[in-house]
Amino acid sequence: MEEYLNKGIKEIISRFPEVADILNEYNIGCAPCSVGSCLLKDIVEIHNLSEEGEQALMARIAKVIYPDQEVKIPPIKRKQQARPGEIKYSPPMKKLVDEHVLIKRWVALIPRVLENLDVESEAGRQFIRDGVDFIRSYADKYHHAKEEEILFKYFDENLDILQTIHEDHEKARSHVRAILEALDKRDKEEIAEHLNAYYELLTEHIKKEDEILYPWMDRILSITQIGELFSDFNKVDEQFGDAPEKYEEFVNKLEEKFTLKELRK
Ligand SMILES: [Fe+2]
Ligand SMILES: [Fe+2]
Repeated sequence: MEEYLNKGIKEIISRFPEVADILNEYNIGCAPCSVGSCLLKDIVEIHNLSEEGEQALMARIAKVIYPDQEVKIPPIKRKQQARPGEIKYSPPMKKLVDEHVLIKRWVALIPRVLENLDVESEAGRQFIRDGVDFIRSYADKYHHAKEEEILFKYFDENLDILQTIHEDHEKARSHVRAILEALDKRDKEEIAEHLNAYYELLTEHIKKEDEILYPWMDRILSITQIGELFSDFNKVDEQFGDAPEKYEEFVNKLEEKFTLKELRK
């Protein structure tokens, strides 16, 4: 059975079509999913099955794969173990929360960036452009592509909570535009004003999403929808290739730079 746990679900379904019917009974729509790259062992995690549900589902799949044998189902290690009192997110929502961690690390550096603002030298201006590139490429294009273009489409966009979130995204974008305009004018004060506003906005915004929006969405989404989300998010990740790692490296370097500066003081 171990061997099959590490195989892609599409491959298993093509060899054992009955597995698709069993998954359907659990509302897990792997057969119509166009990606199908999830491993059998991931299916349990993605769809948040209970431990009993997981054992029962695996036992039925094992019966199809090995009809003449008694198969022992190995325990499947789960990547996310929620501690008591901690919010337990579904795997796609956990992906977004993890992306917030990097965005929050950058946002936490804004006060240091403000202390070191220099619009007179080319290096100083490039430093601001690099920060803006992180916001635009990672926080906006990569992360918001998942929120606005995929996740929010499952909900009525006229709901108050979604309108608020949309407004936050728009405000964040307008601060970024204002920072770039101020940079053209070499207006240090205006840059500082909008960077500060971005800092405050994003800190609150991420808290709202992590603590209210995502847990609420997790309660509403069906397990089939959660599975769809996970594979759609994986498609976005594929499109962006190694860009997320590049931006993580960018934040690492920036943190290092400011820590060294502190030490030298
Ligand atoms: Fe957001
Ligand atoms: Fe977000």
